[in-house]
Amino acid sequence: MTEKKYHVITYGCQMNEFDTEVYSKFLEEMGYAETKSPEDADILVFNTCAVRENADKRLYGRLGQAVGWKRNRPDMVIAVCGCVARKDGQSMADRFSHIDLVSGPGDIASFKDNIIEILEGKTPVVSVSSTGDELDLSASRKSSVSAWVPVSAGCDLKCAYCIVPYVRGDLRSRQPENILKEVRELVDGGFKEIILLGQNVNRYGLDLKPRVKFSELIREIGGIDKDFRLRFVSPYPKGFTKELIAAMTEVPQVCEHIHLPLQAGDDNVLKRMRRGYTGEEFVKLVADLRAAIPGLSITTDIIVGFPGETGEQFENTMKLVEEAMFDNAFMFAYSARAGTEAAKMEDQVPHEEIMQRLYRLIEVQNSIMFDKNSAFLGKTVEVLVEGPSKKDPSRMTGRTRDNRVVVLEGETFKPGEVVFVKIDKTFLWGLKGSRPGG
Ligand code: SAH
Ligand code: F3S
Repeated sequence: MTEKKYHVITYGCQMNEFDTEVYSKFLEEMGYAETKSPEDADILVFNTCAVRENADKRLYGRLGQAVGWKRNRPDMVIAVCGCVARKDGQSMADRFSHIDLVSGPGDIASFKDNIIEILEGKTPVVSVSSTGDELDLSASRKSSVSAWVPVSAGCDLKCAYCIVPYVRGDLRSRQPENILKEVRELVDGGFKEIILLGQNVNRYGLDLKPRVKFSELIREIGGIDKDFRLRFVSPYPKGFTKELIAAMTEVPQVCEHIHLPLQAGDDNVLKRMRRGYTGEEFVKLVADLRAAIPGLSITTDIIVGFPGETGEQFENTMKLVEEAMFDNAFMFAYSARAGTEAAKMEDQVPHEEIMQRLYRLIEVQNSIMFDKNSAFLGKTVEVLVEGPSKKDPSRMTGRTRDNRVVVLEGETFKPGEVVFVKIDKTFLWGLKGSRPGG
């Protein structure tokens, strides 16, 4: 008998990438093996993202293609999971009769039972109701070096543009002892990097009784007596406490990088986004972080063209970007998401205007990034080797503690190894280097 195969196509954030490892684990428990070619899969899972319309559109294109494969192989099971499944639910199943399962992120714990039900012939299944027990599930890890560990699900804020709270539900934090146990097992098992995940990671624990502070969680994880790198994504600028900065400084495993989403540099836009901080407060936090943590790199997310953003307000974002000197930035054109507060706002900025602003912002930010990377020329940096480069599998890549990608040249490098390399070339996207004297 030939082996049964599965494939998961993943869109969106790291939380989705982690969820894919959970779906994979369930499917492997059922005797399925991963295939790299989606058209060969007996079970094909789309793990979707609803944050911007682009990803949504791409998904529907790919789904059409999968329906074509299924025509030739009617036994193929197609599952749509993730945030678009939660958003479109039943209407998605109605629109595509070839979809067997529509399952939201909060229903991940029932995924295996849903698949069994489908295989027994009771198709299709739509399961998009609960936002529950998804935090303590085990994962089939794709990397042997770096492991994601969810600390919370959902988000208890409602930024005006954001669909996440609607599709991922309210903040639910995981019990600290479960997190600690998992991290301990992972580092004992040889993982060299732990990335804590939450939509809003520093609000971890606010819903627990008794409350647990995120800074305390970091300190407890730091108490595990092992050499590993610790990261967390994404923190929220408001409520980024002095205690958290102190924990970052004092816990040696915490890396010198923070992803701190700015979204906009204008106070009026920030207010209408419901972000709860001003541009000045953000810049002050950046300064405090840099003063406390030498060599800290700071990356960010920015949305251009939020409804009502005037040319002048956009210039304030440009100014802040020039002042903050981010090491990297994800810059997005605002995308209206049905159901959010911003989608109902008047004076949506014309698409062309948004794109013109976005290109200007990207140009300025790219030049900052290029200069920041150039400063590493000739320096020796500590790199955790991750694995073969996606672009050129004959080379290995890794990351510095401050999260710069380094392509490694020369003698063999083993995944999981920490090496010191001398940087001999710098790019917009990162660095290239080899062992000194190697
Ligand atoms: N708190 C989450 C945010 C998830 S969305 C986190 O862990 O990062 C990721 C980024 O997408 C946001 O920071 C924001 O910059 C962008 N984004 C969210 N909604 C958007 C929208 N409607 N249009 C454009 N960009 C958006
Ligand atoms: Fe979205 Fe704001 Fe929460 S960006 S995930 S509502 S902090």
